[in-house]
Amino acid sequence: MSKRIGLLFGMEDTFPWALAQTIDDMGGGDVTAGPVEISYLEDRQDFEYALILDRISQDVPFYRTFLKAAAARGVQVVNNPFWWSADDKYFGNLVAASVGVETPRTVLLPHKERPPGTQATSFRNLRLVDWDQVFAYLGFPIFLKPAYGGGWKDVHKCDDRAAFFAAYDQTRDLTMMAQEAIDFSDYFRCYVVGRERVHLMRYDPRLPHFERYVRDAPPIEPALEERLRRDAKALSEALGYDMNTVELAVRGGVPYAIDFTNPAPDAERSSVGEANFAWMVRNMAEVLIERVLHPPPFQLTGTWPLHLAPRPALE
Ligand SMILES: Nc1ncnc2c1ncn2[C@@H]1O[C@H](COP(=O)(O)OP(=O)(O)O)[C@@H](O)[C@H]1O
Ligand SMILES: [Mg+2]
Repeated sequence: MSKRIGLLFGMEDTFPWALAQTIDDMGGGDVTAGPVEISYLEDRQDFEYALILDRISQDVPFYRTFLKAAAARGVQVVNNPFWWSADDKYFGNLVAASVGVETPRTVLLPHKERPPGTQATSFRNLRLVDWDQVFAYLGFPIFLKPAYGGGWKDVHKCDDRAAFFAAYDQTRDLTMMAQEAIDFSDYFRCYVVGRERVHLMRYDPRLPHFERYVRDAPPIEPALEERLRRDAKALSEALGYDMNTVELAVRGGVPYAIDFTNPAPDAERSSVGEANFAWMVRNMAEVLIERVLHPPPFQLTGTWPLHLAPRPALE
């Protein structure tokens, strides 16, 4: 019997259909693909899929629970819904450091407003932030962005204290981090598929959305290219993501990881361009077919627990 790959997706128009077609073409009848069908979920039910590729559960909590249940029944789920639920950008920086990838200096901040259902007495542990220390550590400009963020939402670039506090005042009860701005000479967005296939895309975040993927980009200096590939791979292995984009900003020849926990990265043809789209579809299809034919054992996360060695106890 052929093995079925289910695709779970939202507003995307191009990637899921192209991927399903490519899997069908490459799968030789042994592996087929198509949209997942869900209505309600029954606690004893089995799943008809060998693997589910998740492109949307970040926006649909019902789907996230569906995927955890599928994983519990032996379905391969890409990306791992357990780790994805636990992951955040601040913790990601610690993971990056543990595998030798540079990140901008970063500080995690208390919520500006109280989360719903809390009151002043909920915060007996909290002390005032010493902003002078924070600003001395980071220097201006500072990026203020959510630890659980994506899609450039609530991202602020602040040139001075006044701009910083004006931005912080707008952050409601989000968990924000303040980060040193990297004044970069080059910026790359990299697809990393199957934790080891890396596709480098020169990217200019300063341009409007549909012009950001630089077409006809100049070649990358070989030593830098090697470092970018190593860093992108190291991050995806440590995090345990089989589909990810890693954004690296280059300053003084050193890549700094800016945004590298993107378990459902943009792969629309109109956004990434034909060549990048074709790379993503082909490589994703190959990796998923391989995984269905040779399923790896269930993993709770990537390799970071091996690298984040506990430090000696405080005196
Ligand atoms: N520390 C930083 N230094 C320089 N640019 C940054 C920094 N942090 C964010 N940016 C810019 O802001 C954009 C959005 O921030 P990012 O961390 O990618 O958030 P999101 O996950 O919402 O895309 C990045 O693509 C980059 O252009
Ligand atoms: Mg980003």
